[in-house]
Amino acid sequence: MKAWEISGPEGGIGALHLAERPDPEPGPGEVAVAITASALNFRDLATVEAPDGRVARYPLIPNSDGAGEVVAVGEGVETLAPGIRVTSAFFKNWIDGAISAPIMAGALGGASNDGVLAETIVLPATAVVRAPAHLSDAEAATLPCAALTAWHALVEKGRVMAGETVLVLGTGGVSIFALQFAAMHGARCIVTSSSDAKLERARDLGAEGTINYRSTPDWDRAVLDLTGGAGADHVIEVGGPGTLERSANAVRIGGRISLIGILTGAAGQASPTTLMRKSVTLQGIYVGSRAMFERMNRAVETHQLKPVIDSSFAFDRAPEAFACMKAAGHFGKIVVER
Ligand SMILES: NC(=O)c1ccc[n+]([C@@H]2O[C@H](COP(=O)([O-])OP(=O)(O)OC[C@H]3O[C@@H](n4cnc5c(N)ncnc54)[C@H](OP(=O)(O)O)[C@@H]3O)[C@@H](O)[C@H]2O)c1
Repeated sequence: MKAWEISGPEGGIGALHLAERPDPEPGPGEVAVAITASALNFRDLATVEAPDGRVARYPLIPNSDGAGEVVAVGEGVETLAPGIRVTSAFFKNWIDGAISAPIMAGALGGASNDGVLAETIVLPATAVVRAPAHLSDAEAATLPCAALTAWHALVEKGRVMAGETVLVLGTGGVSIFALQFAAMHGARCIVTSSSDAKLERARDLGAEGTINYRSTPDWDRAVLDLTGGAGADHVIEVGGPGTLERSANAVRIGGRISLIGILTGAAGQASPTTLMRKSVTLQGIYVGSRAMFERMNRAVETHQLKPVIDSSFAFDRAPEAFACMKAAGHFGKIVVER
């Protein structure tokens, strides 16, 4: 079978290598899945571009998120059978409960764990989740990381309620799912973006307030204006050090900021004073458990939610998908399909 590989610590999209590997066979408790679609996350691009420190053995297959069909099951697997459509779970071993260091070490497409950018993968049967019936494989492949992260932040931890205001930064994968989950729960959504055209698309998805953070660099003030001076109840923080201080200004007193991404860099300074004075709940989010994934899928099915796919690339042209993400012109998700 064919698999894309990161072959060494030097990294780079151009260094991705299409390799031939033996077809993997499931052992006891495992399933083999023929992957027909894989969705990219910013983290996959970061891993491909700078694997040193993120990858513990080479070659390594990138990407955490895949969907396809079970083609074989190992001894003792009773809940799955060939023909069932599934998606990978981001963590091989986070079933339920709190996250821990061993769970974090089980993320697909990082450390020593091969990911899903391959024709066939083998995973523990507990590390795959049935795909919602109304979604194509490409759509289902967008759920394991971006969707679950947004769901965890807003619903599992945030307990978002109808009538609340959710502030979403940017229009990438996590942010567009957050917009969709906010709308699903009857919350009002404010979206920021560098692009007016993307803000127009966000409006079509139900965003009520839109702010171009390039032409309005003090977007935090604009959020206050749009909320009658009160601020947003929830902030989906994907920017990190370059946006956190403004997010703290834009959240309401007693509101919640979910720290999810570091698109503006890994290091920096943010004053704790506003966060403390405003009694803000600052919560780190790392994707989510299988139990959360199943609860999310029930909601996705009930509401017939359709993930937003910006562009799709053929498996043999996977490097172009990473280049597309790097160019940051996308709105929602980028997928690779076979
Ligand atoms: N903690 C977790 O579990 C978890 C899970 C998934 C992702 N993440 C992290 O979350 C971040 C987003 O991931 P993703 O996969 O959704 O990325 P993505 O699809 O590549 O989205 C990137 C988008 O973010 C927006 N953006 C960039 N800089 C911004 C800024 N200064 N202010 C506001 N928006 C900005 C841009 O939107 P516009 O083009 O509209 O300006 C850009 O297109 C990454 O740092 C990723 O590593 C973390």
